[in-house]
Amino acid sequence: MKVPFLDLKAQYESIKDEVAVAIQQVLDRTAFAGGPFVAQFEKEFAAFCKTHYTIGVGSGTEALWLALLGLGVGQGDEVITVSDTFIATAEAISYCGAKPVFVDVDEKTYNMNPDMLEAAINPRTKAIIPVHLFGQMADMDPIMEIARKHKLFVIEDASQAHGAEYKGKIAGSIGDTGCFSFYPGKNLGAYGEAGAVVTNNADLDEKIRMLRDHGQAKKYYHAMIGWNARMDGFQGAILSVKLKYLTAWNEARRRNAKLYNELLGTIDSLVIPLESFNNKHVYHIYAIRVQHRDSLISALAEKGIQCGIHYPIPLHMQNAYKAPGLGEGSFPVTEKVASEFVSLPMFPELSKEQIGYVAAEIMKLTCGKTLG
Ligand SMILES: Cc1ncc(COP(=O)(O)O)c(C=O)c1O
Repeated sequence: MKVPFLDLKAQYESIKDEVAVAIQQVLDRTAFAGGPFVAQFEKEFAAFCKTHYTIGVGSGTEALWLALLGLGVGQGDEVITVSDTFIATAEAISYCGAKPVFVDVDEKTYNMNPDMLEAAINPRTKAIIPVHLFGQMADMDPIMEIARKHKLFVIEDASQAHGAEYKGKIAGSIGDTGCFSFYPGKNLGAYGEAGAVVTNNADLDEKIRMLRDHGQAKKYYHAMIGWNARMDGFQGAILSVKLKYLTAWNEARRRNAKLYNELLGTIDSLVIPLESFNNKHVYHIYAIRVQHRDSLISALAEKGIQCGIHYPIPLHMQNAYKAPGLGEGSFPVTEKVASEFVSLPMFPELSKEQIGYVAAEIMKLTCGKTLG
């Protein structure tokens, strides 16, 4: 049996006709750059996240960058985040002229460990970016409490957590802003590049809206230096179609994760993901942890099962971010989990048979047993 890591085609097939209509509408109105379809999606996504505003931009990386710029983060500032994330989180900080300062993660959730925060705060610290890794939100209450105490902004990197919840609040809605990627493989994925910032702050909304459009609120009247970071019209229209299905697709991911958990939970030599108390995990990535993962990944590949690793090298150990005093051993939990992660196939359309097959093969390879 073949089990791909991700199957975008299966999802496309299920909404093909609606997508065709949406694309035709954009063509008919020649609304290609920004425009009414982006505005419509912005309204719908703000309602979904229960925030006042959404600003559609060109990618998740731009969402983070413009959110930081909008909050006034710049040269000489420091922003605390995690090393256990996709590089875009740190790049956005660097592109503002600020310095990313990493803290370690919690060994159970793989998210920012709030206990590490205060030691990393100094007078240059301006903001904190918790990353809701794999689809589960970081422990936002203590993070917000520390941020408020030290007058720091909080930018949620919700790129992997569309629709995830923490104590009933939706990802993106707790911090000063929430940033989303709509990269095609995400839980809510565009058919190209796209991203968004959500916020409840009207001034910030206005500023980010201007920053994404060359610093103008009125055409050719430039109040500040901005950039071209507009979402394109096709992506807005397609995202509106897909947003209607997001909750059902997240529920399907949660069912798939539950089945994986049931089948893999008895294997002592591996760690399955933990949904922490008061959280609704949306399993963008279903990552297990094992020792000697390379042999497992290649043995599964031989059986037609495609896996991934998110992410093999933490940011502080990447050439791009290597710095004196930040060598191996700086963030022990991050380094440990990064060396053990294996992301199993996960997408809403994954069948019970496929999950059963993946679990049975893992069982054989890790315990020399077959599933009962
Ligand atoms: C945690 C995280 N932050 C930021 C990004 C950047 O998003 P994009 O690829 O849309 O620029 C991603 C995308 O992979 C991500 O997973």
